[in-house]
Amino acid sequence: MHLDLTTTHAKDAYKILSGIVTPRPIALVTTLNEDKSINAAPFSFFNVLGASPPIIGFAPGDREPGIPKDTAKNIRRTKEFVVHLPDESIAQQMVGCAASWPYGVSELAAVGLTTTPSTALSVPRITEAPVALECEEWGTLNIGDNRLIIGRVLHVHTRSGILNPETLHIEENAYHPIGRVHGPDGYCTTRDQFKVERPE
Ligand SMILES: Cc1cc2nc3c(=O)[nH]c(=O)nc-3n(C[C@H](O)[C@H](O)[C@H](O)COP(=O)(O)O)c2cc1C
Repeated sequence: MHLDLTTTHAKDAYKILSGIVTPRPIALVTTLNEDKSINAAPFSFFNVLGASPPIIGFAPGDREPGIPKDTAKNIRRTKEFVVHLPDESIAQQMVGCAASWPYGVSELAAVGLTTTPSTALSVPRITEAPVALECEEWGTLNIGDNRLIIGRVLHVHTRSGILNPETLHIEENAYHPIGRVHGPDGYCTTRDQFKVERPE
């Protein structure tokens, strides 16, 4: 099957690519609204992009042409955000954060999540998340209706037991982030792993 995303299937690009490029990690991002309330929203157009400096990227699409989602709007103003990697224990709450809550309603309180102050940022992090990355905006690329937000990771917080304190490797069976797969409500776990030896 051949699909031309420049002509016949341009309108299907989201459906095709979000179904094919899986599993994707999920960034549950907290930012500060103008009134200092906390905004939280999930984004699966997301990944770590490099280590020196340590950078991550995620991409909110515009709500309408030229109108950014609140996360992108807040980052443009404050230049800071926290990326959380949700695991199975907060999957439901993570999806709840994607709902359109009325302005002024804290998404986190509505879904039953709590916060802890960040180390370097004004915006707090989610206490229940297994991992939180405190980020400052490095830059944002506006590409059509996409905003590719690139953040420099300043601090990493992990639930105790996830990283071996000596080696800093992930402890076996201690970390189960979830991934996004095809369909509007498709997710996968990371429990069914296998190893492939690398050639010398
Ligand atoms: C698992 C999941 C992944 C999502 N990934 C994205 C994404 O990569 N880009 C995007 O624009 N919206 C994505 N969404 C939708 C946003 O979370 C949703 O539009 C949210 O209301 C945006 O909130 P904000 O306006 O507070 O930024 C995703 C939703 C879910 C549940």
